[in-house]
Amino acid sequence: MSIRYDESKKTFTLQTKNSTYQMKVSEYGYLLHLYYGDRIEDEDLSYLLKLQDRGFSPCPNEAGNDRTFSLDFLPQEFSTDGNCDYRSGSIEVKNADGSYGFVGKVKGHRIYSGKYKLEGMPSLFGTEGDTVDSLEIRLQDEATLLTVILRYSVFEEKDIITRSTRVVNENPETVYLNRVMSMTMDFMDSDYDFIHLDGRHTMEREVTRIPISYGMQTIGSFRGASSHQHNPFAILCDHGANEDFGRCYGFSFIYSGNFVCKVEKDQYDQTRINMGIHSKHFSYQLKSGEYFEAPEAALAYSGQGLTRLSQLYHNAYRENLCRSPLSAEIRPIVINSWEAAYFDFDDDKLLHIAREAVDMGVELFVLDDGWFGKRDDDCSSLGDWTVNRAKLKKGLKGLSDEIHKMGLKFGLWIEPEMVSEDSDLYRQHPDWCLQTPKRPLARGRYQLVLDLSRKDVCDYIISSINAILDETKIEYVKWDMNRFITESWSSIEEKEKQGEIYHRYILGLYYLMDQIILTHPDILFCGCSGGGGRFDPGMLYYQPQIWCSDNTDAICRLKIQYGTSFAYPISSMESHVSVCPNHQTGRTVPITTRGVTAMDGILGYELDSTKLTTEEKEICRKQIEDYKNFYPLIAKGDYYRLTNPFAFHEYTAWQHVSKDRSRSLVSLVLTDKEANDAQRYLKLKGLKPEARYTVSGMPGLYSGRLLMSAGIPVPGSLLEYEAVQFYVGETGGQS
Ligand code: GLA
Repeated sequence: MSIRYDESKKTFTLQTKNSTYQMKVSEYGYLLHLYYGDRIEDEDLSYLLKLQDRGFSPCPNEAGNDRTFSLDFLPQEFSTDGNCDYRSGSIEVKNADGSYGFVGKVKGHRIYSGKYKLEGMPSLFGTEGDTVDSLEIRLQDEATLLTVILRYSVFEEKDIITRSTRVVNENPETVYLNRVMSMTMDFMDSDYDFIHLDGRHTMEREVTRIPISYGMQTIGSFRGASSHQHNPFAILCDHGANEDFGRCYGFSFIYSGNFVCKVEKDQYDQTRINMGIHSKHFSYQLKSGEYFEAPEAALAYSGQGLTRLSQLYHNAYRENLCRSPLSAEIRPIVINSWEAAYFDFDDDKLLHIAREAVDMGVELFVLDDGWFGKRDDDCSSLGDWTVNRAKLKKGLKGLSDEIHKMGLKFGLWIEPEMVSEDSDLYRQHPDWCLQTPKRPLARGRYQLVLDLSRKDVCDYIISSINAILDETKIEYVKWDMNRFITESWSSIEEKEKQGEIYHRYILGLYYLMDQIILTHPDILFCGCSGGGGRFDPGMLYYQPQIWCSDNTDAICRLKIQYGTSFAYPISSMESHVSVCPNHQTGRTVPITTRGVTAMDGILGYELDSTKLTTEEKEICRKQIEDYKNFYPLIAKGDYYRLTNPFAFHEYTAWQHVSKDRSRSLVSLVLTDKEANDAQRYLKLKGLKPEARYTVSGMPGLYSGRLLMSAGIPVPGSLLEYEAVQFYVGETGGQS
C-alpha cells in the first residue's frame, strides 16, 4: 500500500516511487501539511512544525492561552475560512445564518486500493500496469456541519498524486460556496521560481518564470474556457533548477473552464499555492444533503529538474488520462482544407486537393469549416448542421464516399457549442444561448454561446451531431470552439443558481463529449479552440490530440510547442506543414524545416496540395515516411528540450528517445543566423552511457557518454531557417 496512516503519530504518508507526501492531524484536529519532496522512508516529519508566539496572528479558541498555535502560519492541507488564517483560503462559505467561515477538523479517513472517480468530470484512471491507492479524509465544521472530503490517489510508479475536494452540506439549511479550491499546498519556505504558460491567440503557452515575491501572484482564466492567455498548469521550482537539476513541483488542473492558480508568499517567508475553479462570478448553492465536486488536480514532483517533471506528466497523461482507444495507436496523417481553401470550395476542389495528397502519403482528408447551412464566411449558420448542397452536390456522404474510394479516410470540422445569430437554430430558440436579461449580447466572431448548462440544449446538440456521425463514414472530427463566454446567465435557472452557470456549462460540455465522443470510440477526435484556446487535461481526457495553435509558422511553432511540452505529451500536439509565405506571419521557411517542426507533434498538412511542385511533394512523402519510422519514439518515448527558444536565439533543438534508450531522433532548426558564427555542439540526453551509437551523417561509432558530454557539432553550413535531423541508433539495436 502506498498510503499509510500512523495512529500513534497521527500522520498520513503517501509514497510514490521517488516522492513522499506527508500530513498530520494536529492536537486540535486540524490537518497540517508536513512535506512533499524526495522520497523518504518511514520518517516522521512532525519535527518541522515550529510553534511560536507570533504577534497579530490570533489562535483558535481551543488553544486556550497557548499563543503559539496559530493557523495564520501553520501549514495546512486545506485551509479554514476565517479562524485566524489570513492567507488566501481553500474555501469560502456563506453559511445559512449569513456568516462566513469554515473550520474543518478531521473526523475520519478511509484508505483503499484503486482510483476514486469524479462524477461527470474527467480525471486520471488506473490501468492494469499501475498500482493506485486512494485516501479520503473527512473534515467537518462542528458548528455548521459542512463537510469537506479531501481525496488523494497515488500513482506509485508514475510519481503522480491526484487531489480533489468534495463539499457536502450535512446541515438542514442551504449554504453558498463562493470558492472551493481543488488543492492547497503550504510550503514552509519560499525559495522558488513560479513557472507558468501564458500567451495569446496564435502565440499560446509562452514560458514565464519569475521568483515568487511577497503578496500574491495569480494566473487564471475567466473566459469560460481554460484559454490561450493562461494554461491551467504551474511549476514551483528551486531558483537554480534547470532541465536536469533541481527540485520541481508541478500542478496541473484537469478542467476546461474558468480556473485560478494563486501563489502567495506570506509574512514568514512561507508559500501557499491554491488551484481550483475561479471564484469570480462563482456562487454555488448547496441545499441540505447536496454536495459539490471540485475538479481534479494532478501533482508531480521531480528532484531531477524540469525535463523529468515534464516526462512524468507525459507518461501519466498518455496512459492514464487519454480515454480514446485510438490514443495508443499510430495517428493518421491528415490534410486539412482550412488554409488550403478557407470557405471557398466545392466538391471538385476538395477532391482535387485530396487526390493530389494521396501520393504524398497522406491518409486522411479533413473538411474544415464552411460545409453546412449557407456558410460562406464566418457570419452565419453555426447550429444549422445540414450540408450545403450548393457546395457539396452529393452531400457529405457523397464526398466521404469519393474520398474513401481514393483510399483516404474522411474527417469533418464541427463547432457544436455555438450558434450564429443568422441561423435557423437561433431564430427558433433565441433563449438557447447564454445571455443577460435586458443587456444586448456581446459578439465574438459573429457567434453566440449555446447554454450547455441546459440539458435540453445539450440533448439537441447530441442528437444532431450524432446523426451526422452515424449517417456518414467519418473517422476523424475536429471539435472547435471559437469564442469565449461573456454572459453567463441561463434563461431557465433560478436566480440563486446563476453563479453556477460557468461551471454548469463545463459539466454540460463534458456530458456532450460523453455522449458524442465516448459513444464513437472508432472516431479520432481532435480538440481545437481557435488553435490552443482550450489545450488542457480536461479536453485530453476526451480528445487525445489538440490543434496546438492557429499559428502554423514553423518558427513561431518552436516556441509554442516548447511551452506546451512542459505539461503535455508530444502525442497531444497536432502540428501541420502549411504553405509559405505563411498566412499568419508572412515568413518563408523551407518545406523540410516545416516538416521537422511539425514532426515534433502529430504531423499533418494544411495546404493546397494541387499547388505543390513535384519536388515538394516528394519531400512531403519522405517526411511522412520518416515520421512513421520514428513515430514510436515521438509519441511514446521520452522528450528532451535541448534549448530554450525564449533564451537562446541561434537555434532550437529537441530530442525524442525511445524508452529503452536504443534509438533517438534529434532535431534542430536554425532560427537566427549570423555570419562567421561560433561552432556549437549539441549535447544529447537520455542515451545509455556505455552503449555505442551510430549517428546519421557522421562516420563511425560513438559512446552514449561521449554524445552526451561532448555532443555533436551543429553543421556550420546550415542557413537561417534550415533544419537538420540526426538519427541515433545503438549498434545491434534497431537502426
Ligand atoms: C478556428 C480553427 C481553425 C479553423 C477555423 C475555421 O480558428 O482554429 O483551424 O478550423 O476555426 O473557422
